Amino acid sequence: MKKPSRKAFITRRLTFSAAHRLHSAKLSPEENRRVFGKCNLPNGHGHNYTLEVTVAGPIDATTGMVFNLTDLKDVMTDVIEHDIDHKNLNMDVPAFKTLNPTAENIAAVLWDLLEKRLKPGLLNEVKLIETENNFVSYRG
Ligand code: NI
Repeated sequence: MKKPSRKAFITRRLTFSAAHRLHSAKLSPEENRRVFGKCNLPNGHGHNYTLEVTVAGPIDATTGMVFNLTDLKDVMTDVIEHDIDHKNLNMDVPAFKTLNPTAENIAAVLWDLLEKRLKPGLLNEVKLIETENNFVSYRG
């Protein structure tokens, strides 16, 4: 019987900067201030984000790899540089015109942008680190 192929998870990291303001149109101004605190200040604020993208699959018998990390790096760099880096997420990124740019929603939007560029089923996790102590994992 043929041995099943081994599955592995590989991750590439990328840093970027962006500004945002947390605000929900479904909440009153007072509720927005209460829920989001300083993150609701009208002119926004910036973060240095770290993005970690994990792809998963069988280890290829010929290359010994799941996926070429250089190709993953290129896809991530394209998506981040083109759509996200150094932007005001609320004002400059169409996905956040109506969607609150929380770390959760940014991770979900990045998942959608990355998934379109990768082989179906390859993307496993998008992890977005917003501050030293806060991060979000999204798995589709
Ligand atoms: Ni913030």
